[in-house]
Amino acid sequence: MGWDAWARRTEVEPSLYAADLSRLGAEIEALVGAGARVFHFDVGDGRFIPEITIGPVVLASISPLVHGFGAVLDCHLMVAEPERHFEAVARAGGDSVTFHVEACDDPPRAIAHARSLGLDVGVSCKPETRVEDAVAAAVGADLVLCMSIEPGYSGQEFQPEAFERIARLRDSLPAEVRVQVDGGVNVETIAGARAAGADLLVAGSAVFWRDDPAAAYRDLVERARGVEP
Ligand code: DX5
Ligand code: ZN
Repeated sequence: MGWDAWARRTEVEPSLYAADLSRLGAEIEALVGAGARVFHFDVGDGRFIPEITIGPVVLASISPLVHGFGAVLDCHLMVAEPERHFEAVARAGGDSVTFHVEACDDPPRAIAHARSLGLDVGVSCKPETRVEDAVAAAVGADLVLCMSIEPGYSGQEFQPEAFERIARLRDSLPAEVRVQVDGGVNVETIAGARAAGADLLVAGSAVFWRDDPAAAYRDLVERARGVEP
């Protein structure tokens, strides 16, 4: 489909990993009501990260609902051998796959593979990975994801070194490649992340661990919108 068709220039993406999974449909609906159109979906395999998270079975059950709202699912694969899972993600209704550069031995092949399945594609890097490695791997990709926490689980604190890493990514990447940030994005950090150059701002606990996720989402959008890189 192409990111330009489905992501606004600045997009706050609720991360469903932090949602109350017993009420997932209702949580999604409330956020769509608040304006969310891109949902972040975290897949972890217990190998690349210690945690096992949610996967294609959950994705398949929510994708008709999400697509019915005119929204999309941006899938972050925190897994070893990510390419093995692209087809399952596509079949389950994922709209994009972002794989970790640390887990992939042939990024150009992975990017081509994702495209052949009709998926948009991103390349992610952990906090310790050189941003240059992510930039080199991202030729032909739609986005580069800068992790601002160690990938694994929601609710960790934003690592401030990420501001500079985001800025370096923004400077090194072609304008059409989006920069995404994931981890510890909240009312305190979102404006700085946007100012550094992030277009796609993933927020898990700052949305779902609040009394009113829709209001929390709107507040984050407001804070991001007021800032230009
Ligand atoms: C964790 C995931 C994140 C997570 C973010 O590694 O990749 O998407 O849900 O949660 P917060 O926003 O709470 O850091
Ligand atoms: Zn994520």
